[in-house]
Amino acid sequence: MITQNFPLTRLRRNRFDDATRRMVAEHRLSVDDLIWPIFIRDGNGGPTEVAAMPGVFRVTLEGLAAHVEEAAKLNIPAIALFPATPAELKSPEGTEALNPENLMCQAARLLKTEFPQIALVGDVALDPYTDHGHDGVLRDGYVANDESVAILARQAVNQAQAGIDIIAPSDMMDGRIAALRQALDKQGLIHTRLLSYAAKYASAFYGPFRDAIGSQGALKGDKKTYQMNPANSDEAMREVAMDIAEGADMVMVKPGMPYLDIIRRVKDEFGVPVFAYQVSGEYAMIEAAARNGWIDHDKAMMEALLCFKRAGCSGILTYHAVQAARILEGK
Ligand code: PBG
Repeated sequence: MITQNFPLTRLRRNRFDDATRRMVAEHRLSVDDLIWPIFIRDGNGGPTEVAAMPGVFRVTLEGLAAHVEEAAKLNIPAIALFPATPAELKSPEGTEALNPENLMCQAARLLKTEFPQIALVGDVALDPYTDHGHDGVLRDGYVANDESVAILARQAVNQAQAGIDIIAPSDMMDGRIAALRQALDKQGLIHTRLLSYAAKYASAFYGPFRDAIGSQGALKGDKKTYQMNPANSDEAMREVAMDIAEGADMVMVKPGMPYLDIIRRVKDEFGVPVFAYQVSGEYAMIEAAARNGWIDHDKAMMEALLCFKRAGCSGILTYHAVQAARILEGK
């Protein structure tokens, strides 16, 4: 890098006016970068707001098309679906995940018909369906890896057959990517993409999400035997390397903002499309501070999203997707 010294060089010159700042901007956020997560609930009626996520709603199948209409108009490329499964359908083995008529599959079919241009992302993990709130099946109090993987592979096929375009396993079992790829291919689903939650941490920032899908109260213990320790970075590289070797098309780092260093390392070391999941707790923090008048909502939101791009992201899963898209599109 060539650097001349002051006063020949004045770095502030390139910050002098808006036109110059625009010209030298290294990164840009666009609507193409946004994936919008939405919660679906059973029953009829209007949307219900998630307590710790003001502005985020659980919508019924009846209200789903109307809810997605604006995102479609704003040209948001992808939507991630999360079901709030009714308690009576939850079980120790999470078998509702395999039901071709479950909420997720019904929502996928509906959205594929109404908005064929939007890519649908399906979260693969058992926590919306288990009565203990874990992402796999429990054996002697431990989430059994291989047995869970076999079920998750069936869950992935079930979702893909209902129209999910991008399967996103968030369970953090070992060997799931290879198993899912094999199961999908066996059914001829060779175009179904795999977006692996490759580096997913055991994080305190998921609290509001667990409340939204109703797994919070139920969760026994924590997820530290499968989700990663926030202290680790080298281990994340091993997770990503394995997932790519097993057939992941894209990888995800989760949570987002406290883990920008992981995103940068993944991008530099592997050069694959990497996505950030700006999780529920991150959304809640921005909303809470803004509602208290402590930060400027729109500016803080847009800054956080841009920083994911700077860190190396191809895109961001964010509950702010529609709000950000409105600003980007000047609407
Ligand atoms: C489930 C899953 C979680 C999130 C996405 N998929 C929660 C968890 O692992 O307990 C969290 C998303 C968020 O907090 O916004 N496997």
